[in-house]
Amino acid sequence: MLVLGIETSCDETGVALLDSATGLRAHALYSQIDLHAEYGGVVPELASRDHIRRLVPLMRRVLQESGATLADLDAIAFTRGPGLAGALLVGASLAVSLAYALKIPALGVHHLEGHLLAPLLDPEPPQFPFVALLVSGGHSQLMAVERVGQYRLLGDTLDDAAGEAFDKTAQLLGLGYPGGPAIARLAAGGCAGRFKLPRPLLNSGDLNFSFSGLKTAVMTLIKNTPLDEQTRADIALEFQSAVVDVLSAKSFAALTQTGMQRLVIAGGVGANRALRTELARRAESCGARIYMPRPEFCTDNGAMIALAGLLRLQTGDKPNDDFDVKPRWDLVSVGMPEISQPE
Ligand code: KG4
Ligand code: ZN
Repeated sequence: MLVLGIETSCDETGVALLDSATGLRAHALYSQIDLHAEYGGVVPELASRDHIRRLVPLMRRVLQESGATLADLDAIAFTRGPGLAGALLVGASLAVSLAYALKIPALGVHHLEGHLLAPLLDPEPPQFPFVALLVSGGHSQLMAVERVGQYRLLGDTLDDAAGEAFDKTAQLLGLGYPGGPAIARLAAGGCAGRFKLPRPLLNSGDLNFSFSGLKTAVMTLIKNTPLDEQTRADIALEFQSAVVDVLSAKSFAALTQTGMQRLVIAGGVGANRALRTELARRAESCGARIYMPRPEFCTDNGAMIALAGLLRLQTGDKPNDDFDVKPRWDLVSVGMPEISQPE
């Protein structure tokens, strides 16, 4: 089965072609980072217009690279939500109308389900069940993933998402958007131990996160400290370490709480090298297995949408024949009617 995946929920246009028998045939991504950089964040209207410009050429490129034609497609998966309404509509319109013309199913996928299942694209994928640390620009959650469509929320952020904290702190430090990679780069030249920032909720006894106080602590620190280049790097390093400490401690607490042995990292912040190193270190010392998708499959991409669509179709999910996108959409509510009934 050949599935075309289309991702347009925010500021990346992603297209991929996934073969159920042989895996990923090709994928392409266009990032709008430069377009939004001067505004310090994503401008929804500009995002929608740029998706319109990029989507069809990207799709042609993916088909050409994989030696396939539209006629070879068996299904089209697209991101139905959550995300920016206008941006989602671009992908949904193309997917649903193309599927209608080709007389194949179009399936609207939950963006976070794409992130959660992205590690299954790896040559050595995790088996179910596993705990997923889902850390993106809009979410910081720990999820128990029992199987496709069956997700249990273990912990969530009470305020800012981890990626949002990176982005806002980067702004405070005068860095560009997106903030995560910029902070990581700056932190590489930082000296550890010069500053001490809080580790919010580290010992709260639950699996929730809170990052807005950390951002405020950085703001206060910056106000009271003359900012030369080394100081900015030292603050960036301490901020990154604070986030990494909390994310990794809670991830392993989630493994203990659920009795699971497999931890999966998903979402853009999962591309952070310091986080990956710390999680790998902790996993080694407690015998847990950790699964980290390639950084390009941590951030938004079409491959994860193609995969989530394929897995849902294989488990009998019904296709969509409308353009109804869901800018706000709770993952746990998505479910999987055929398999999520109590056994
Ligand atoms: O998953 P994603 O690409 O898009 C959303 O669904 O939100 O995540 C984007 C977020 C941004 O906040 C970005 O700053 C963060 O992921 N990010 C990183 C890194 N790369 C991306 N944060 C820390 N370190 C990174 N290397
Ligand atoms: Zn995402």
